[in-house]
Amino acid sequence: MKLNGKKVLVTGGAGFIGSHLCEALLEKKNKVVCVDDFSTGQMANISELQENPDFKVVKKDVMDKGFKEELKGIDAVYHYAAIVGVERTLSMPVEVLNIDLLSVEKVLRESFEAGVKKFVFASSSEVYGNPVEIPENEDGHVNAKLPYAVSKLAGEKFLRAYFEKYGMDTTSLRFFNVYGPKQDSTPYGFVAGIFIKQALKNEPITIFGDGSNTRDYVFVKDNIKGAILSAETEKTAGEVLNIGSGKPTTLTDLAELIIELTGSKSEIKYLPPRPDDIRHRFPDTSRMRKLLGFKPEVDLKEGLKKTIEYYKRK
Ligand code: UD1
Repeated sequence: MKLNGKKVLVTGGAGFIGSHLCEALLEKKNKVVCVDDFSTGQMANISELQENPDFKVVKKDVMDKGFKEELKGIDAVYHYAAIVGVERTLSMPVEVLNIDLLSVEKVLRESFEAGVKKFVFASSSEVYGNPVEIPENEDGHVNAKLPYAVSKLAGEKFLRAYFEKYGMDTTSLRFFNVYGPKQDSTPYGFVAGIFIKQALKNEPITIFGDGSNTRDYVFVKDNIKGAILSAETEKTAGEVLNIGSGKPTTLTDLAELIIELTGSKSEIKYLPPRPDDIRHRFPDTSRMRKLLGFKPEVDLKEGLKKTIEYYKRK
């Protein structure tokens, strides 16, 4: 389904990734309904979109009874609402399992009942846990241990079940580490933003562990391109897809690059590892490239520069 002139609903639309998605969907001349309970979503993330008459913001929890009213006439749903951030999800295990699991089931069921044609779910590379094999392949082993990862994996299974039983066009996207403007850079946030903030203040860059952990960083605009293509391509029906760059970066390399790009006087401080931290993430991106005909274009240096500019203005 070409996402142009369609009606698209984004849950978690005021979040970091959700707000960039809303912006891109509006640029493609869709009508966009952003549903967010503003638990971690921020009005500031979407303030520039509010003037657009095609943009509607609904402050509502997807678990509310009235949520389904918003689904009337919607062509596609992106379900991005979730409890996010490692510190937060670790401190709320029961809520993560209850809320995230029940919400994907409810949003999916109500979307199906409302006749939504395409349903995209933000899953996570976290489902691989500490990887059993490298690169991490969608058909390979998953090692989901954290409640957050388990809820994402179960969400994927709900989508697959709706595809198998009802022929609904559903797609789960396993996001690798997305970074960019608007990302939470508080201690509850994510590593690139945290390091940039520390570097701009010339404070020590706090690396958990010996700095050799690797992650696959994807600039948010590239992540959004992949997400939009995955809704536009029929080949993704019923599929699970990694969305990554395929270029792992160590924490020390990330910190050094950020110090260089900001011209910071910060020093790197190595702290004890985070309990149960994932050591390595490295996606097999062949399915993404094959089905979407897409690979991320913004390299880490360029993406970090754009992100640093944003934090400087803040
Ligand atoms: C988290 C999410 C994952 C998501 C990813 C996206 C959970 C459980 N996991 O994983 O689903 O795909 O973000 O961005 O919610 N680090 C430091 N110093 C810091 C902060 C972090 O060294 O001050 C290290 C961490 O120990 C880790 C790496 O940086 O090794 C990345 O951490 P973080 O940004 O929190 O995300 P992930 O653990 O990759």
